[in-house]
Amino acid sequence: MTTPRDHILVRQTRPDDFPAIIALSKTVYSFPPHWNERLLTSHLAIFPEGQLVAIDSSSGTLVGMAASLVIRWNDYNVQGSWKYFTDEGMLTNHDPVRGRTLYGAEVMVSPTMQRSGIGSALYAARRRLVEDLALPRIRAGARLRGYSRYADKMTAEDYAVNVIRGEITGMTLPFQLKQGFRVLAVVPDYLPGDPESLGYAAVIEWINRQAATPSDYGTYDPKFALPESR
Ligand SMILES: CC(C)(COP(=O)(O)OP(=O)(O)OC[C@H]1O[C@@H](n2cnc3c(N)ncnc32)[C@H](O)[C@@H]1OP(=O)(O)O)[C@@H](O)C(=O)NCCC(=O)NCCS
Repeated sequence: MTTPRDHILVRQTRPDDFPAIIALSKTVYSFPPHWNERLLTSHLAIFPEGQLVAIDSSSGTLVGMAASLVIRWNDYNVQGSWKYFTDEGMLTNHDPVRGRTLYGAEVMVSPTMQRSGIGSALYAARRRLVEDLALPRIRAGARLRGYSRYADKMTAEDYAVNVIRGEITGMTLPFQLKQGFRVLAVVPDYLPGDPESLGYAAVIEWINRQAATPSDYGTYDPKFALPESR
């Protein structure tokens, strides 16, 4: 039996993928900014290896995309927004000489194809890139999609804790946790226009054990610890 995953090819983004990426971002996100040709051209000029697409090889359709850059984490404030960490989406702050942290600027999958392993395939390729570049870690802001439904009952931090414990079914954070990420902090105003997260995001980290030294690990707050059973 074949599964959708068997048909998925992950490869580096090419300029002829841009129209499909732009269309995909409008399908995935109800709010701006969406990807556009100027931003995507900048990504390929700056860090082509960090730009990935997932293609359904049975139809040739683009079904997912991931964008990343390398940053020198200590130059940044952990409370910063998506625009701050990605230079307004241009990725011109990419710093492969001094940087040791791969920063995840985007991962998205076509809504009709979600939960069929495409996001995992993109993340596997991203982890391979980190291993090839001998970087110690990936960090990113994981939007707390779904928080808007709980905002009248709890803080965003408590929402994240409940999602981590499996007491609330989250929508994006469970995916990142499944990829081996851990939560370092919850921050406001990461994506201010996002109606589903109300702007809140979890700052997340994945460690490349082949390259990391103890100082590369973030400071874990025990309240964000995974339950033993996970
Ligand atoms: C987050 C996203 C990229 C995940 O991609 P995906 O292809 O659906 O993920 P996968 O199928 O590889 O999921 C792997 C596992 O993650 C978990 N997971 C993924 N989406 C989940 C969800 N909505 N709710 C709960 N768990 C989820 C599940 O454990 C899943 O395994 P399972 O389906 O066997 O149970 C996708 O949902 C998406 O594009 N979301 C909108 C854009 C977005 O918010 N991107 C993240 C920006 S921070």
